[in-house]
Amino acid sequence: MSTSSLFSEDRSAEVVVESFGTETDPRLQQVLGSLVRHLHAFVKEVELTNEEWETAIAFLTETGQACTDVRQEFILLSDVMGVSMLVETINNRSLELATESTVLGPFHMVESPSRELGDLIALDGKGEQCLVTGRVTDEKGDPIAHAAVDVWQANAEGFYDVQQPDIQPELNLRGLFITDDNGEFWFRSIVPRFYPIPTDGPVGRLLQSTHRHPYRPAHMHFLVTAQGHRPLITHLFVKGCPYIGSDVVFGVKESLVRDFAQVDDPARAAELGFDNPYRAVHFDITLLSENSQDSKR
Ligand code: BEZ
Ligand code: FE
Repeated sequence: MSTSSLFSEDRSAEVVVESFGTETDPRLQQVLGSLVRHLHAFVKEVELTNEEWETAIAFLTETGQACTDVRQEFILLSDVMGVSMLVETINNRSLELATESTVLGPFHMVESPSRELGDLIALDGKGEQCLVTGRVTDEKGDPIAHAAVDVWQANAEGFYDVQQPDIQPELNLRGLFITDDNGEFWFRSIVPRFYPIPTDGPVGRLLQSTHRHPYRPAHMHFLVTAQGHRPLITHLFVKGCPYIGSDVVFGVKESLVRDFAQVDDPARAAELGFDNPYRAVHFDITLLSENSQDSKR
């Protein structure tokens, strides 16, 4: 046995990586090898104490224990550490041709109900009424008819329907719309509100101990799919809303921030069944075709 295969502080990472069998899948070898090297470099850089190692193990154990069918504390941990957004950004480079993407988040847990263009998705009668319009096109600017535009958002108090099953109507503020022949979609909703991510678990404690707030700026979620195109997961952010510059999950991209402008037009308000004035926002969405060379680089 060569003594260079024995563990030492100097060669710790190499010794572990060299222990992987030669038949290990090459990608696994690359990813796990890199993880081991970075982990060992980190432990050496901070000179991790036994007590800190025990704290980390207890934290990760609790994170796992907090996971249920409807709660994923590990994803939340990845979100607040910026890892979800980094993975998402690397895998959805749009090269300015397509609408930018952002995190899916944990609240797309029920299927959105199919709705007609123009339908009202705010079923609880609360909030500032808002008309949402937009057009789905491809990277050449041609409209995409029959694209599916799946929308979900928090209510005027900052809660999703699934967080308040006994308070909000079922499927409140969710809708699946199909674009018309011009690629256009429109629906009636309310202006969303900022809200805190769940803070009653270990991730909440992590935020507290690093003096971070738990808020996401006001946003509407969109999942847009069309045959022959790459699906797009994104948000529409409300310009001027608190936390736009300090989203707890780092999901804001400047290109996704829109003015939810006030419209003073009594006749149009009456047509929409809104009080005057009301708010309106326009969101044009560009999808990359499936075989686009630019969709990944
Ligand atoms: C959301 O926008 O729904 C969300 C995203 C990441 C973590 C928590 C919530
Ligand atoms: Fe959200």
